[in-house]
Amino acid sequence: MTVRSVIKACGAYLPEKILTNADLEKMVDTSDEWIVQRSGIRERRIAAEGETTVDMAVKAGQEALTRSGYEGSDIDGVIVCTSTPNHTFPSVAAEVQAALNLRIGPAFDLQAVCSGFVYGLSVADMFIKTGQARRMLLIGAEKFSSIVDWNDRTTCVLFGDGAGAVVLEADESGQGTVDDRGILSTHLYADGTQKDILYVNGGPATTGESGHIVMEGKEVFRSAVKYMSGVVAEVLECNQITSEQIDWLLPHQANIRILEAAAKKLGMSMDKVIVTVDRHGNTSAASIPLALAEAVEQGRVKQGDLLLIEALGAGLTWGAALVRF
Ligand code: UT7
Repeated sequence: MTVRSVIKACGAYLPEKILTNADLEKMVDTSDEWIVQRSGIRERRIAAEGETTVDMAVKAGQEALTRSGYEGSDIDGVIVCTSTPNHTFPSVAAEVQAALNLRIGPAFDLQAVCSGFVYGLSVADMFIKTGQARRMLLIGAEKFSSIVDWNDRTTCVLFGDGAGAVVLEADESGQGTVDDRGILSTHLYADGTQKDILYVNGGPATTGESGHIVMEGKEVFRSAVKYMSGVVAEVLECNQITSEQIDWLLPHQANIRILEAAAKKLGMSMDKVIVTVDRHGNTSAASIPLALAEAVEQGRVKQGDLLLIEALGAGLTWGAALVRF
């Protein structure tokens, strides 16, 4: 008997407000053409005045919970992957736990920036595999609009707000092979020596303010292509599979050119890559669960499909997961 963490249901929330490239042309010296060519982004969602990360996390979490058919009291723990919490503390997760009436159990935020959801999958999987939890709610929720410098054209055109969630549940029917449903392997990395190519220039222990995103885009781009192709090769090797066996590549949505490079390296056509970056922009830890929820909703990702999930973010952090949906 092998215990696997199966994705029982997904949920998503996107704020109503759409900020288009044409809108940005009126705010900074940029053009729709530049943004589309360099990043593939056409529009992104922006939280309403007063709408917070907790609000978005609760909405995505509620949808996943409802679709799972479980009550809040059936959920043993909640992890929220975020770099844009409402407050320094308490965690977003603690507020979500209260709002959704989840069982008294572990509730904490996980901060690995754009790799957050991949890290979260790994951590939630460990709670389930070690028998500490039977069901976990895992959420990626971000309000990057609040840490973007709206005068900096090199970053402000790239990010958006939103939240995505999954309910993970222990399943004992696995045979210990890649045919099992659930999380099959996770692979996490960080290299803190590269902290200066993508960071926020503030925080509680430094400026006392939350600060703004600073990024050396080209360097981050190069690292994303390099490290993600390395970790993807590791996933294939570890699970003894070839890229032809993968039904969907589900990458963190930062830049369409990074997604295309990853697909090319794997010899996969773009038809098998889940893409939301054109409409969501980069929603950091929320991008993967948002993209998954959308693809499931559209009937593209189906039960039994093999998903290769990958991400890179500030830290640098990066990672991948192989999941049979
Ligand atoms: O999610 C975490 C991980 N983050 C990422 O993966 C992001 C990785 N990086 C990227 O996606 C890309 O590097 C960017 C989309 C950020 C930038 O694309 P690029 O092809 O690397 O462009 P660049 O930064 O080299 O900029 C090229 C030119 C520069 O002008 P000069 O120096 O060549 O005269 C920039 O000043 O484009 C200029 N530029 C802009 N022009 C119009 C930079 N931002 C803009 C803009 N509109 N918004």
